[in-house]
Formats: sequence, C-alpha cells, structure tokens
Amino acid sequence: LNRVRALPKGFVWGGATAAYQVEGSTKVDGKGKTMWDDYLKKQGRFAPDPASDFYNRYSEDIHLSKEYGLNAIRVSIAWTRIFPKGYGKPNQEGVAYYHRLFKECLDNGVEPYVSLHHFDSPATLFEDGDWLNRKNIDYFVDYARFCFKEFTEVTNWFTINELISLAYSQYIQGNFPPNHHFDVTSAIQAQHNELLAHARVVNLYKSLNLKGRIGLIHVLENVYPIVATPENQHAADLQYAFMNQFLLDGTFKGEYTPETMTLINELLDINNAKLEIQDGDLDELKKASTQNDFFGLNYYQSKFVKTYHGESENHFNGTGEKGTSSFKFKGVGETVKNPDVPTTDWDWNIYPEGLYDILKRITKEYPNIKTIYITENGLGYKDKFVNENTVIDDSPRIDYIEQHIEKILQARSEGVDVQGYFVWSLQDQFSWANGYNKRYGLFYVDFETQKRYIKKSAQWFKELADTMK
Ligand code: BG6
Repeated sequence: LNRVRALPKGFVWGGATAAYQVEGSTKVDGKGKTMWDDYLKKQGRFAPDPASDFYNRYSEDIHLSKEYGLNAIRVSIAWTRIFPKGYGKPNQEGVAYYHRLFKECLDNGVEPYVSLHHFDSPATLFEDGDWLNRKNIDYFVDYARFCFKEFTEVTNWFTINELISLAYSQYIQGNFPPNHHFDVTSAIQAQHNELLAHARVVNLYKSLNLKGRIGLIHVLENVYPIVATPENQHAADLQYAFMNQFLLDGTFKGEYTPETMTLINELLDINNAKLEIQDGDLDELKKASTQNDFFGLNYYQSKFVKTYHGESENHFNGTGEKGTSSFKFKGVGETVKNPDVPTTDWDWNIYPEGLYDILKRITKEYPNIKTIYITENGLGYKDKFVNENTVIDDSPRIDYIEQHIEKILQARSEGVDVQGYFVWSLQDQFSWANGYNKRYGLFYVDFETQKRYIKKSAQWFKELADTMK
C-alpha cells in the first residue's frame, strides 16, 4: 500500500457503474425501452429491475463512495431516458434525473465521469439495425449534442464504452441481443460504425469549444501464444488485431494501417466476410484521432491461444462453473487454458502482467494516446453474506485489485501516464449475461431489500486513500 504514495495527489480513485446495470426503474418517468428489455423478459432468466435501485438510491451510493475514499464515479446516461425512442423530443424527467445525480456527485466531491453509451441501445434503433445502420450514427450525434449543451456541469465525457464487447457479444459470441454467432461481417462493420460515431462526436465536442475533456473506452486483452511457435504467434496476432488493434488504429491513428489490414483481411477472407468503408469516413477518423483528451482502458484478463483451422465453436460460461467455457474461431485461433494462470469462476484468466504489457505496448504504438484512466478493473466473485454485523470477506478481490495496481505503478514508473483507477464495480450490480450472482462491488447489495453492506475491499480502499493523504 505504501507504494501508492508515489502517486500524485490528484490521482483519481473511482467506482464504476453503468446505467442499465444499476439504475433499475426501467419503466418509470417516461424512459424508453432498450434492446435488453424485451430480450431479458423473453429469456426469463433475470430482470433488470430493480438492479441496484440506483435511480432512487444514488445519494446513498455517492455518500458511501465519499466515506470510503473515492473521489470519482463512472456513470452512464441512459440514452432512452433522454430520448425514449433514441430521437425526437427530450424527456424532461430523464433530464432532471441526471441533473440531480450530477449535482449530488459534485456536492460531495465525487467527480462524475460520464459515458453516453454503455451497451444500452434504444429498442427502436436496435430493431432498425443498431450500429449496423448508419442512421444510428446521426441519432447518436444528435443525442450527444443535446447532452453537451444540457449537462454543462459534466466535464469528463466518454462517448462509447467497449466497442468491441458490444460488437463481439452481439455478433460473434452471441450472448447479447440479437444473438448472432460468428457473423464476422456484422462484427467488423459494427466496430467501424461505432468508431465513426465516436469520431463524429469528438469532432463535434471540440467544435463547440466546451471546457471539458472527452475520450472513449476500450477494453483490451493481451493475447499470448500458449506455446511459442510461429503458427501460435500468428493466431495471437490475428486475435489481437480483431479485438484491439483495429479499434486502436481507428481511434488513435485515424486509419487502419496496412499491417493491421493484412491481418484483418486474412480473418475476413477465411470467414467470407467483408467490411465497407464509405468515402469521408477516414477523414472523420483522422480528424478525431488527435483530439481525444484521454483514453479509458478497461482491463480484466488476457488470453492464451493456439492455432486452429476447424469450424468456429463457442461455449460461454454464463453460470460461474469453472472450466466450462471454450472458444474456437475459424482460421484465427483457439483460446486455451494456461495451467500456470489462475482463473475466476467464470474462466477469466487472472493475469496482471497482461495489463502491464498492454500499457507499455499501446503507449509505444500510439503516440496520440495521452492521459490514460483505467476505467474498469475488478473481480467477478460469488461473495457470501454472513449477517448484518459481519463485514463481507472478499479477500480474493483485494488481491486481484492490489496486483493490478502494482502493475499500474510499475508502468507509471516507466513513463506511462495513468492518472486514475476505477474499480468495477462500485456496488454489486446486474451483470449482462450473468445476472446477479456474479458480483463485483466494493459494497454488497442485497437485491431483495436493496440494503448496502460493506465488504473488506471497501475498507481496503479507504486505507489506500488515507495512505495518500
Ligand atoms: C465490462 C463492461 O465489459 O465488463 C461492464 O463494461 C461489465 O458493463 C463488466 O459488467 C464485467 O462483465 P460481466 O460480464 O462479468 O458483467
């Protein structure tokens, strides 16, 4: 812990949330449906209401943040609270809610970092093709413009959260609506279109001469060959290109470099897929590529792969039963277990070195990356509630967080400009494909009563903050 004394006084310690995962109240005050509402109802596995009831209890959570040493919070605006259909007339009750929320944050010294899109596309736009429909980009720009003009109290903006997770979960892994499997054309096109939406919003923000900062959030996973052979290394390169490099190039170079496109085209060819880039798209990307004020990096895990030439296959571990996931991507590679690396119950590799490697690699390859915030990092765990008076022991989460902070400190000491760390998540919340038994919070939420309970990890954060005073 003492090593954090090396950090500057203004270092940001935050807790992260996302509208749909915490707010609940999905049917009140004029809110429109997202792509999740009917999908979850049909599935009948878990409901997004009341989630962590943040819509009504945000004040309590912000006070907890403050009490436990956090000086920032990540929240997202639900597009469908502002524009119930994604466009049209703004819904004043939704607007008023976010003003109340931001005021509470600022009054308590908990700085809000606000995303405009966190996996919760409006249902109406989703039905019309979501990010695959370029009209979606225009509506997103209109929504962003409205938010920038309305919420002038917000000075830290992120456009879109984890472009790859959305594209990948919707069209490759198939565990987000519309549940397509290995639809590579849609996945790559959605990535490009989302990048374009991001670029247009950044260019707009800069043209409005506003006083705040803007960026976007990518989740990055490093990819390693399980055994260092040229074939396995090539599989790792292909996977890295599809999951990280294409998006990083588009964001920070404003072009897809020939090296990147060689890998991407190989992957597209094998899967009979194609990407369409229209005239002018790359000009928008280019213009935005130097204008990001900061970069939000989410990091959970890295992958180990070997070469694979059979048909694609995916088994998603949605229940938290160790060893039940597997993933094979035709012509790209197979994700395999590394016996030396521990995993979570959901088979996510616990590999802090990957964060260090990624930080070093991206700062070398993308000089346009300025300040970095780790905008998500944390451990999905089956926390056990004992009784009202017993602090919940989530020591594995503390270990996980501590190991990753160590790597951030190491990278910082070698010149990587990380200015903040947001733990995923602030309080327990609804996990998209995993429901309510995959907990991440510093604060335990009893989803029946909505009471909050302290976990050891929250106490650890308080100590950390006190150490820095
Ligand atoms: C990130 C997202 O991908 O990971 C969060 O931004 C998400 O919204 C988090 O909840 C953890 O993923 P999961 O599937 O374990 O909830």
